[in-house]
Amino acid sequence: MPNITFSNPNYRDKTVYAVAGSHTETILSIAREHKIPIDFNCADGECGTCIIKVSSLDDKGVMGTHLTEKEKVVLKENGKLSAEDIEKAEVGDVVPPWRLACQMIVRDQDILVEY
Ligand code: FES
Repeated sequence: MPNITFSNPNYRDKTVYAVAGSHTETILSIAREHKIPIDFNCADGECGTCIIKVSSLDDKGVMGTHLTEKEKVVLKENGKLSAEDIEKAEVGDVVPPWRLACQMIVRDQDILVEY
């Protein structure tokens, strides 16, 4: 079961255990379930309000939940991803740190989410 630690300078870090079967849940839905105040607006990968930084808390590196098409567009518009980053993510399965909380699906891995 993955541990997700949510971190923000204005709040205490909070670690939650994503329950088995949560592999279709987004970071945002898990955060909301646990009353973690990640900003969001559209919840549909359009606005960029929910940008988060994700890193691995184990030695595996962040496993590839692929960037959605919406993430590519919104993260690029917000200066968080370059065309090169997108290519690396697609070709080399190198996952960039910036994601959209409303789009990223949790894998079975311990991660740190900065928001
Ligand atoms: S809430 Fe709008 S992109 Fe995630």
